[in-house]
Amino acid sequence: MTKKLRKAVLPVAGLGTRFLPATKATAKEMLPVVDKPLIQYAVEEARAAGIDQFCMVTGRGKTALVEHFDVAYELEATLRERNKTDALESLRSTQTEPGSMVTVRQQVPLGLGHAIWCARAFIGDDPFAILLPDDLVLADQPCLAQLADAYYETGGNIVAVTEVPPEQTNRYGILKTGRDDGRLVEVKGLVEKPAPKDAPSNLSIIGRYILMPEVIKYLARMERGAGNEVQLTDGMAHLIGEQPFHGLRYQGRRFDCGDKVGFLEAQIAFALKRPDLADAVHTFLKHYV
Ligand code: G1P
Repeated sequence: MTKKLRKAVLPVAGLGTRFLPATKATAKEMLPVVDKPLIQYAVEEARAAGIDQFCMVTGRGKTALVEHFDVAYELEATLRERNKTDALESLRSTQTEPGSMVTVRQQVPLGLGHAIWCARAFIGDDPFAILLPDDLVLADQPCLAQLADAYYETGGNIVAVTEVPPEQTNRYGILKTGRDDGRLVEVKGLVEKPAPKDAPSNLSIIGRYILMPEVIKYLARMERGAGNEVQLTDGMAHLIGEQPFHGLRYQGRRFDCGDKVGFLEAQIAFALKRPDLADAVHTFLKHYV
């Protein structure tokens, strides 16, 4: 039986070195796209997929992320006193049900697989989603909700995938593909960041996953993979053949906000979707191009 998806793990322990000095004293997941931090996009996307339990895997210097989802009593009281209803409203989705968001620390940066393993007590025996907040997807139906629909169709493990230029396979987890109906593709193998000549396809994983809890026992082996890190991709590869495993070609546009150009592009794309900003942004863009 397919268990209901209620849990999400948000790995947020990365140092954000690509965005220094901006990330010297704050978490990279707090960087805003337009006016909302990356982490909040991830939490809202998870909620839209029916998720109501969250675990952030944090590290040193990440306390702003915890504060962000707490009640800001003085701020809210001041806004209320001043009748700033729009500002108050904008805070609404930063509030979480009491007890619905927990954090665990990844004390040492041993890789994404290790970060997920750190959340094992939260995961327990349940299916869970992973959202990497650096990957932002602009879509009519939020990406994780598309993935959840596919999960309820197929059961088992599902990752969001997209074709990348062949020379970029060394940046992503890459699928070896089986049966493929153009939307759902059967996963026959997974390789983390293969050189283009070794890549089994150019179908890459983006930062949205729905996984079965059994992946934890494989991650617990702490096998080192690409970059000498404990790779989530390698842990997932052990599930192939044991459980259903599919890739979903999601609808939408993905922005790699861990990269400066991707981050700037996301600002423009998201601003152009905002009724209050679109015209002004359009006008100034004409000036630059
Ligand atoms: C991670 C995963 C990789 C995946 C990517 C998606 O890599 O290890 O398999 O394709 O996220 O963004 P990272 O971006 O942390 O190097």
